[in-house]
Amino acid sequence: MPTIDMKSRTDFRPMLRKAVMMFFLVLSAVVPALAQETPKSFMDDPINHPMAPLYLVTALLFITLILVIIVAIYMLRILNTFVEQAEKERAKKLGITYAPSVSWWTKFWDEFNAAVPVAKEQDIDTGHEYDGIRELDNHLPPWWKGILYGSMVWAVIYLFAYHVIGSLPLSGAEYENELATAAEQVRAYRATQPVTVIDENALTYSSDAAILSNGQKVFISNNCQQCHRQDGGGNAIGPNLTDTYWIHGGSIKNIFQTIKNGVVEKGMPAWGKVMSPTDVRDVAFYVMSLQGSNPKEAKAPQGTLYAPETPTAPADSTMGGK
Ligand code: HEC
Repeated sequence: MPTIDMKSRTDFRPMLRKAVMMFFLVLSAVVPALAQETPKSFMDDPINHPMAPLYLVTALLFITLILVIIVAIYMLRILNTFVEQAEKERAKKLGITYAPSVSWWTKFWDEFNAAVPVAKEQDIDTGHEYDGIRELDNHLPPWWKGILYGSMVWAVIYLFAYHVIGSLPLSGAEYENELATAAEQVRAYRATQPVTVIDENALTYSSDAAILSNGQKVFISNNCQQCHRQDGGGNAIGPNLTDTYWIHGGSIKNIFQTIKNGVVEKGMPAWGKVMSPTDVRDVAFYVMSLQGSNPKEAKAPQGTLYAPETPTAPADSTMGGK
């Protein structure tokens, strides 16, 4: 029996193939760019992130591509129906039987499921019938078996790789590795930062403007003023820092150490734990610079009179908090 030559049909497959190829080409160009690490997490501040424009463009590109593919598939289907219709009519005119071509997708789907066609159900009928419901002896679909065998093979690979040879790290080791990597990153970062070692025994006060202005900034931003007043005159909590009487000594070294180690039991925090040594030095210099500023309604003197002429032992012996 003669059939219609199916080659005469418009073939849209090359077009679709091109579209899919384009999609993967763009994907392969974009993925390495996305994988590039940026120091700050994107989620912290998506709008100001340096990669934000690229991400946005990529997202738009993806959406457009997906839309184009969906529309293309729909157009193809509509065109196919028209072509089929035309072929049917032509076959009718020529008086031949119309035999639709089987698409690769139908072939694939049939193989994928390997379901017994309804016409051949008798072959697998078990003969069990209840109220018109018949039991068929269907085998498991190939896709299902594929998953089963695939996971069995994977289980063996996994067992060998993770437990027998140990070539891949288990979750615990993976976690340790990440911690080690992070520690290494911290170490590397610290190495790039200038290290300022402040020798507290060799401190000499200077009225360096840069140091004092940073010291003032530290004094205000670390809430020193809450306990010592904005002008250092002292309040109900902290002592007056502008007079010549000191509880813990008035030398620059004493002041530095009091700020660094604090007098925790008396309510003076240990700032060395939260501040850089430079900041501690700068604020100590700033406190020193407040000497004799005589603010109004300053707190009454506490401690002992500090005489700068004898800046050694006596002051140190009164060091508290140790
Ligand atoms: C939570 C309150 C509080 C804050 C904040 C605070 N201090 Fe104090 N500070 C105190 C108290 C209380 C004392 C007295 C400790 C004592 O009696 O031994 C003190 C003592 C001191 C002394 C020694 C005074 C002396 O007479 O020997 C210095 C210097 C000082 N503070 C500087 C600072 C600086 C600089 C800051 C900010 C970085 C700061 N303090 C923040 C409560 C505070």
